[in-house]
Amino acid sequence: MARLAAALLLLVAVACWAVAPGAEALGMNWGTQASHPLPPKAVVQVLRDNGIKKVKLFDTDFAAMSALSGTGIEVMAAIPNNMLADLADDAGKAKDWVKRNVKRYDFDGGVTIKYVAVGNEPFLQSYNGTFINITFPALQNIQNALNDAGVGDRIKATVPLNADVYNSPDSHPVPSAGRFRPDISGLMTDIVKFLAKNNAPFTVNIYPFLSLYLSDNFPLDYAFFDGGATPVNDNGVLYTNVFDANFDTLVAALRAVGHGDMPVVVGEVGWPTDGDKHAKVSYAQRFYAGLLRRLAANAGTPARPNQYIEVYLFGLVDEDLKSVAPGNFERHWGILRYDGQPKYPMDLAGQGRNTMLVPAKGIKYLPKTWCALNPNAKDLSKLGANIDYACTFADCTPLGYGSTCNGMDTAGNASYAFNAYYQVQNQKDDACDFQGLALPTETDPSTAACNFTIQIAGAAAVHGRRSAGAAAAGVVLLALLQLLALW
Ligand SMILES: *[C@@H]1O[C@H](CO)[C@@H](O)[C@H](O)[C@H]1NC(C)=O
Ligand SMILES: *[C@@H]1O[C@H](CO)[C@@H](O)[C@H](O)[C@H]1NC(C)=O
Ligand SMILES: *[C@@H]1O[C@H](CO)[C@@H](O)[C@H](O)[C@H]1NC(C)=O
Ligand SMILES: *[C@@H]1O[C@H](CO)[C@@H](O)[C@H](O)[C@H]1NC(C)=O
Repeated sequence: MARLAAALLLLVAVACWAVAPGAEALGMNWGTQASHPLPPKAVVQVLRDNGIKKVKLFDTDFAAMSALSGTGIEVMAAIPNNMLADLADDAGKAKDWVKRNVKRYDFDGGVTIKYVAVGNEPFLQSYNGTFINITFPALQNIQNALNDAGVGDRIKATVPLNADVYNSPDSHPVPSAGRFRPDISGLMTDIVKFLAKNNAPFTVNIYPFLSLYLSDNFPLDYAFFDGGATPVNDNGVLYTNVFDANFDTLVAALRAVGHGDMPVVVGEVGWPTDGDKHAKVSYAQRFYAGLLRRLAANAGTPARPNQYIEVYLFGLVDEDLKSVAPGNFERHWGILRYDGQPKYPMDLAGQGRNTMLVPAKGIKYLPKTWCALNPNAKDLSKLGANIDYACTFADCTPLGYGSTCNGMDTAGNASYAFNAYYQVQNQKDDACDFQGLALPTETDPSTAACNFTIQIAGAAAVHGRRSAGAAAAGVVLLALLQLLALW
């Protein structure tokens, strides 16, 4: 009997180990603003292989939804900002949207939609108020349509908001003094009350990287989770990182409008690896190591200690077509490169292991041909104009100050730009000419720091549905059975 009990205990322990804590609860943003997006099936496979069971989308792309169906991965589907006006104006259109994008997938073996994101950071100050009057009506129409469709009890509409919708006054810059931004405080109060009425969460995107990027005086260590920064003392509560401080500023703002216990989902959080002096692999690794350790431990924040926080990392892969209006780093948020290869060691389970993520499988590349400056080109007077042209249609952000390919000579710059364009154009013959300034080459011009990439080709073949986690658990179980047999 004791033996059996011991064996059972061991089994439970193994089961707990196999389902790594944290990983189970962790969400991932899947953005697709890329010239060569990974095939949806490869993306879903990479999510499964890495034990990720929640995903946040930026639309309801049919191929993505199809790839997700039957997987049990929980989905935050999304409505882009440019659709908000229609949905705000017309409840019928909201009903129709729910029918075509939610009900359609809502069956056994379909897509496990849990949330509908209404807009994406619609109150960003840089939008000049464009979405101020339409976001709340759109939210109401969508949630009401979900309720009318009979799914409102399990599918909640929410609005992923930028953390600039709340702040603490300059005169009292501590989290507990957090309030919604004065220009939208009435609107935010209405939204919070509506979310509360429908048991929907508040969704916020929190970016310690941006705190650092936007202010040269920001203390570097305060962006991370490993101490070192002078703590911010909030009535005796010591804040040692900006993530906690920011989250708790929101908690205070919610409390001030009577909903201090509203569930908060962190819709985006992450660290980019190129395009700025602070956007680098070593910092990303440090940031995620600290964040994931705390998430796995359900550490919570000072205002909400010892609890699970629902978090979606931003993001899964690099997106070479993202707008660089906020900064060159925008195209480098991926924990995986554009081709689904991991960039640095990362333990999603938050156990601090020095492991690499499982890469995307079955990715096919274009031939190993690059485009570079023609060494025999004589007249370089049109070089600048040709580089500009290439960089208008391809991603040259790694060339900028503080980036991986910064500091090359003119020839290096030109080659980088020409190659980026040539790859975006799928290595078409006439995409490597540039008025005679460029030539294809089979010699890789990459340096230790700077990758001249080869783009991915066509659709990838994906085989095998068994996840690495399941395989590992299987091996352990087998070992356990052998152990018991010897007992
Ligand atoms: C917001 O206003 C600024 C300054 O007037 C302008 O440069 C920018 O393009 C505007 N942005 C949008 C999204 O309308
Ligand atoms: C939003 O509504 C207010 C009040 O009706 C109005 O003054 C403002 O111009 C509107 N903003 C936009 C962008 O439509
Ligand atoms: C290379 O390109 C970068 C980014 O456009 C620029 O800052 C740098 O001055 C260029 N270097 C040379 C030598 O042209
Ligand atoms: C360049 O790409 C290769 C894979 O092709 C990768 O192993 C390497 O880490 C990359 N280097 C940089 C600096 O990104």
